[in-house]
Amino acid sequence: MKTLIIYATYSGSTMMAAQALEQVLQQAGHEVKLKMALETQPSDFESFELVILASPSWDYGGQEGMPHDDFMMMIDKFGEAKFNDQAFAILGLGDSNYNKFCGAVDYLTQWIEKIGGKLVGQPLKIDQYFMNEQTANEEILRWGKTL
Ligand SMILES: Cc1cc2nc3c(=O)[nH]c(=O)nc-3n(C[C@H](O)[C@H](O)[C@H](O)COP(=O)(O)O)c2cc1C
Repeated sequence: MKTLIIYATYSGSTMMAAQALEQVLQQAGHEVKLKMALETQPSDFESFELVILASPSWDYGGQEGMPHDDFMMMIDKFGEAKFNDQAFAILGLGDSNYNKFCGAVDYLTQWIEKIGGKLVGQPLKIDQYFMNEQTANEEILRWGKTL
């Protein structure tokens, strides 16, 4: 399966999580490409059977629990484009000490609905990746296999 992982990061965790996921999928025989949200164009989705969005949750525009700025810019750039029946999955990194734990996952879920995509499986929400790298990577491994 040709898979595109789109990620954005502030302090590096989501990049590491995305790389861990890339490895899992490659080991399972899939063709995987990693791309930063900032560099992603609507045409990039075309040749992939699965697109995985990987974002931390952060403040954006005075609101808590939002996707990374680069995802917000990407969504803005995509405008009214539709991706009917394109398969998506979501990997969210966050911290359960915040009011909206992994709020970015809910935001991105709604965006996928809006553009006509279909969500594959349950989004994965990782709590405090940086403090629990090993167990978080094990969670990613199990989740990656379900995709
Ligand atoms: C200013 C700030 C705001 C944050 N807001 C949230 C939030 O609303 N919800 C949440 O679950 N995590 C929140 N986090 C935690 C980050 O999402 C978490 O640490 C994540 O692993 C960071 O990923 P990154 O290293 O890829 O940037 C926040 C962290 C900071 C520093």
